[in-house]
Amino acid sequence: MSDSASRALHPATLAVGHGYDPASAWGAAKPPIVLTSTFVYPSAQAAKDFHRAFFDGATEGEKGGPIPDGFIYARLGHPNLTMVEARMAALDQAEDTAGFNSGMAAISSVALANLKPGDSVVHSRPIYSGTDNLLSTLMTRLGVHVEVLLDGCNPLAVRTAARAAQERGPLALFMLETPANPTAAMVDIALARTVAEEVAGQQDQRPLISVDNTFLGPLLQAPLAHGADLSVTALTKYCGGHSDLLAGSVSGSVEHIAKLKSLRTIVGSHMDPFTAWLLLRSLESLDVRTTRACANAQAVAEYLARDPKVAEVTWLGFLPEGSASRAVYERQCAGAGSTFSFTLRGGEAEAFRFLDQMRLLKVAVSLGGSETLICHPATTTHYSIPRALQAAAGIGEGTLRLSVGLEHPDDLIAEMARGLAAV
Ligand SMILES: Cc1ncc(COP(=O)(O)O)c(C=O)c1O
Repeated sequence: MSDSASRALHPATLAVGHGYDPASAWGAAKPPIVLTSTFVYPSAQAAKDFHRAFFDGATEGEKGGPIPDGFIYARLGHPNLTMVEARMAALDQAEDTAGFNSGMAAISSVALANLKPGDSVVHSRPIYSGTDNLLSTLMTRLGVHVEVLLDGCNPLAVRTAARAAQERGPLALFMLETPANPTAAMVDIALARTVAEEVAGQQDQRPLISVDNTFLGPLLQAPLAHGADLSVTALTKYCGGHSDLLAGSVSGSVEHIAKLKSLRTIVGSHMDPFTAWLLLRSLESLDVRTTRACANAQAVAEYLARDPKVAEVTWLGFLPEGSASRAVYERQCAGAGSTFSFTLRGGEAEAFRFLDQMRLLKVAVSLGGSETLICHPATTTHYSIPRALQAAAGIGEGTLRLSVGLEHPDDLIAEMARGLAAV
C-alpha cells in the first residue's frame, strides 16, 4: 500500500493491516513471527551493499541497480519490527517510527539522543516517575540542567520555565506528558511550540518538543499535528492493551528517528520479534477497545463524582468550562481516555480501606489493559517522588488512580460502591 493511499484511510483501518503485505510471506493472512537473530546474504557484494545502505544511507548498489530491502542482524532491525514501525508511523501521522523494548527505553533514548552536557531541558510535572527519575538522576549526573514546568496551559509559566532553563544552558528539549500521569493535567503542545520558536531566535537551535502520548494513545491525540517533533508512546499500555508485553515507540521525522535508531543499535534496546507480533495483533482492536474503555470510564467517573466521600475526580470530561485546560483539551484531544484519578476525603487510611475492598478490580500499577486496575499513586507509581512535590503536582494521600478496562460498567460501579462503603 503506498503512503499516500494509506493516509486517506481511517486510523481504525490502518490499525488493522497497515505495514504487512501477505505477498511477503507465502500469502499468510497474518504475519509470521520471524524468530531469527541474523540474516543470510545472497552474496558478499550484497552483504557489503546492505551495510552501505544501513550505515551510510546508500540506495544504489556498488555494481549498479537499487539495493533491495534487507536485514542484517536483529538488533539493527527485523521484519516484525519494521511492520510495527510502519503501523505506528501511520497512526501517529509521522514519517517514521522507532520501536523499543519498553516505554522507558523510548523515553531515555529521546533524552540521550537530544541532550548533551551543559544543555537544559524543561519537563512538565506531574510526569511519569520513571521520566522524572531519568531527568533528576542520570541526566543531571551527565551535566544536563533540568527545569520543571507546573502549568503547561499557562503562557507565562511556559515562558518562565524556558527562560530559567536558558539561563543555565541552551534549551535543547521540552519533555512533556499530556494528559499527565496520574492527575490528567493538560499541557498545551501548540503553546510549547510557540515558545520553542521564540527560544530559537535567542540561541543556535530550536528546542525539540517531545510528548509522551501514552495516556490517550494515537487514536485520541496526535501530538505531531499540534507541533510536537516527537510523539512517544509506552506501547505497554493501551496499544498492547492486555497487560502482557513491554514496548515503546517514538514517531517523528525521518531525520529525528534515524538518530534514535542509531542509538538503539548502540545500546541494544530494540523490540523483539514476538513482542512486535503481539503488538500488530493488539493494534487491530485498539479502536474498539478505546471506544468501550472510554464509555466505561465515563460511567465510573460520573458515579464517583456524585458521592460526597469523593473530593475530586480528574476525568478529562469534567475539566471546567471556560478554563484554559478545557480549551486545550477540546483542541488537542479526541476523547477523555480511560485512566483518571479520584481523591477520597481523608488520606492514606481511607484510600487503603477502599483498595482492600476490591474483589473484581486488581490492585496493581500500570494502565491500558483489558482489565480494570487501581492503585494508590503516592505509595506506588510515584513512591520515589518526595511527598511535597507529589502534593504540588496534585497527588494527594487520598488519591487513587483507575485504569478502566473492558468489563461491564455495572460490575465496575458495584465495585466502586463496595469501596466507598468501607471509607
Ligand atoms: C505515561 C507513561 N509513560 C511511560 C511509561 C513507561 O513505560 P514502560 O513501563 O513500558 O517502560 C509509563 C509506565 O507506566 C507511563 O505511565
